[in-house]
Amino acid sequence: MKIIKEANYEALSKKSAEIIRAQVSENPASVLGLATGSTPTGTYEELVRMYKQGAVDFAKVSAFNLDEYFPIKKSSDQSYDYFMKQQFFRHVNVAKTFIPNGEAPDYAAECENYEKQVAESGGIDLQLLGIGNNGHIGFNEPNDYFPAATHYVMLDESTIKANARFFANESDVPRHAITMGIRTIFKAKKILLLASGAGKAEIVKQMVSGKITPQNPSSILQLHPDVTIIVDNDAGRLL
Ligand code: GLP
Repeated sequence: MKIIKEANYEALSKKSAEIIRAQVSENPASVLGLATGSTPTGTYEELVRMYKQGAVDFAKVSAFNLDEYFPIKKSSDQSYDYFMKQQFFRHVNVAKTFIPNGEAPDYAAECENYEKQVAESGGIDLQLLGIGNNGHIGFNEPNDYFPAATHYVMLDESTIKANARFFANESDVPRHAITMGIRTIFKAKKILLLASGAGKAEIVKQMVSGKITPQNPSSILQLHPDVTIIVDNDAGRLL
C-alpha cells in the first residue's frame, strides 16, 4: 500500500484528481470505478475544473459506480445516480456511465447484470474508493465473510446513521443497497482510496495495519498489489 499524506482536504482532492487525470491521459479509453459519499466531491470538482480547462478528456472513458441504494428512484436527490449526475457527469464528457439501477424490478437480476457489465468492459483500470466509519468499501458491510460479486446488501445500523445526514429523517434512509462485491473491486488494476477527517483515523489505521478480516472489509486491500491511499493530516494521524 502506498500512503500519501496531504495537509488538508483540498490538497487531498487535488492529488486524487491528478492521479485520475494521469490515468486518463495515459489510457484515454480507461475504465474508471467511481465512488460517492462526501469524500470524493472535491476530487470531482477538481476534475470538472481540469476538464473545463482542457487538461483532461473523458470522451473515451467508461465509468462504473460502486453502489446504489435499493430501492430508490433515480430522480431522488439522495440517489447515487442523482449525486453522480450533479457532481460530475453533467459537467464532463464521460462516454459511458453505469450505476446499479435502484429502480430495477428484480434486484438479483440487476446484481447479475451489473457484474456482467463490469466484466464486459474489460475490467476496471482505476477504482476510486472512500471508506465508511465501519470499514465498508462500496456498501460491503462488516460481515463474517467477504461477498465476492455484486450483491444486494442490508445496510448496517451504523451506515444508516452515518448516511442519515443526507436525508430528511433517519427513517428515510433505504435499508438496502446494491454494491460491487469485494472480488469486483479487487479485480481493478489500481485502487485509489481517499479518507479525510479525524473520524476516519482509527478505521484507516485498522485498514492499513490491522487484522485482515471481513469484520473490516477495507482490510482486504492490504492484499491488493496496487493500492494508493490518500489521507489528510486528520485521517492519517494514527499512521
Ligand atoms: C457511503 C458509500 C461509500 C462511501 C462511504 C463514506 O455509504 N456507499 O462508498 O465511501 O459511505 O462516505 P463519506 O465519504 O461521506 O464519509
